[in-house]
Amino acid sequence: MNTVELRANGTATHGWIRRIARWVTVAALGIWVALALLVSAGLGFGMRTLLVGMKTPPLLTAELFTRDAKSFSDLPDTPAIPVLHRDFGPAIGVSDGRRLYDMVVSRGYRRALDVGTGNGYAALWLGMAMRATGGKAITIEIDPATARQARRNIQDAQLENVVDLRINDVFREVPAIPGDFDFVFLDLGGVHHERLLEMLSPRLAPGGAIVSHNALGLRFTAAGYLPAAWRNANLETGILPTLSGGLAISVKTARE
Ligand SMILES: C[S@@+](CC[C@H](N)C(=O)[O-])C[C@H]1O[C@@H](n2cnc3c(N)ncnc32)[C@H](O)[C@@H]1O
Repeated sequence: MNTVELRANGTATHGWIRRIARWVTVAALGIWVALALLVSAGLGFGMRTLLVGMKTPPLLTAELFTRDAKSFSDLPDTPAIPVLHRDFGPAIGVSDGRRLYDMVVSRGYRRALDVGTGNGYAALWLGMAMRATGGKAITIEIDPATARQARRNIQDAQLENVVDLRINDVFREVPAIPGDFDFVFLDLGGVHHERLLEMLSPRLAPGGAIVSHNALGLRFTAAGYLPAAWRNANLETGILPTLSGGLAISVKTARE
């Protein structure tokens, strides 16, 4: 074989390698695009399924961030604010806390119930709201050690006159409380939320609201909650997306 033939063979081999590399690249790109389409279609379907039946439009994400930026700055000066900056463990977070406060203050609710006090984070936001509306909140916690920590936080925030902490099982405590509520916040980590909705919706005043934490997570922790809320002819239910999983808000439209 002379030099010219050797060069021709080498060029032919390189040509094959280049062609195979091109096919591999095209196939890899194709697989990548197909996977991306599948994942986004799956996510879209998941989101649609999660939000089926939603009657109120979601807020824009940008709006959430701008509101979070002023979560504390426009509140009246209160000893509760430094307490809210403590570590509360598995609490609802500032995004939901501020929204509870805004809902209560803007509607003038005065008889609030907070189910599952934990260390008291939501109770503090509700307490500040009660200060603003002249109302009182009852908060219920089953675990005495957790309730002790919550009591310390409530006292340090100087909200003990407006937040009444009860240490009991909510299913025992609520039947012993007379009267109705105009604002109910549910946060037992989703567990029992459907049963709580059934027990508490007849105790809700017309125009009052039952709000459940982590609306999107309810699909996994209390799958029957949202369907039950949507079936209830006396409730208008929507989901407000927030940074910690959204709030399911059910407003009572008529007396049961
Ligand atoms: C996720 S934590 C609540 C966090 C709280 N909302 C906050 O923002 O700080 C749920 C709490 O519900 C309490 N809990 C669970 N089952 C309960 C029941 N049947 N009655 C009252 N409290 C209960 C748990 O002990 C726990 O402290």
